[in-house]
Amino acid sequence: MSNQHLSQNSAIRVEQLKKYYGEGKNQVRVIEEANFEIEKGELVALIAPSGAGKTTLLMMLGCVLEPTDGKIWLGGELVWDKNHWSLKDTRRLRREKIGFIFQAHYLIPFLNVLENIILLPEMNGVPRETTKQKAMQLLDYFGIADKANAEPSQLSGGQNQRVAIARALATEPHIILADEPTAALDIERSVSVVKLLKQIAQEQQVAIIMVTHDGRLLPYCDRILSIEDRKVVVKPTSEMEKEEVL
Ligand SMILES: Nc1ncnc2c1ncn2[C@@H]1O[C@H](COP(=O)(O)OP(=O)(O)O)[C@@H](O)[C@H]1O
Ligand SMILES: [Mg+2]
Repeated sequence: MSNQHLSQNSAIRVEQLKKYYGEGKNQVRVIEEANFEIEKGELVALIAPSGAGKTTLLMMLGCVLEPTDGKIWLGGELVWDKNHWSLKDTRRLRREKIGFIFQAHYLIPFLNVLENIILLPEMNGVPRETTKQKAMQLLDYFGIADKANAEPSQLSGGQNQRVAIARALATEPHIILADEPTAALDIERSVSVVKLLKQIAQEQQVAIIMVTHDGRLLPYCDRILSIEDRKVVVKPTSEMEKEEVL
């Protein structure tokens, strides 16, 4: 398969993606079919009942979990193909192309805010002065530059989640995968985080996939991925707003 059919703006494309856990009668078929493309600049919500396979899908896109079958392209680069599973250095891909944000922020408690943000870009070999400058720009952008030398325990939940988002952006990834990033926040803070993600997607031209259970956040997203009968389907946000929220 050539890359010619990919749009230039393609951030993520999957084709005939499948994920089964286990073998034989214990096999769990989580995702039997996924075909979709997400463009740079898009904020896409991933919404489905608990156990439907949201984290599984996210971890495959993040090159953390091997698919059972199918193909994945990130930023036009074929990163997974059943027939060439050793095609790419997945650790490098994870570090350089993908930013992760989780429900709990997972900041390192004994490092200050700035040190948390520069950790990964430094591991990628970016000089310290450059990483620091970039980190300070991000903190400034998020309105928490004055917290650079504070430790995570000194920040509020919303502030820590902003640091976690800054950390995800510090490596200038092509895609950001966020697994229930607002689950620990009240609705007001959740909306402000989602608006921020939307702004980041547009301004930095990254694709963001955000798992959420909260239908109130969907109007801020561009499109919706859901998992129905083990198939991943893509919907416009307008269609989902009318439906019963999970
Ligand atoms: N490592 C694993 N081994 C076997 N089954 C798993 C494993 N990880 C997840 N599952 C199963 O796959 C299904 C989807 O899980 P998950 O992706 O975590 O769903 P969600 O994030 O939507 O709640 C669940 O039935 C879960 O029990
Ligand atoms: Mg999950």
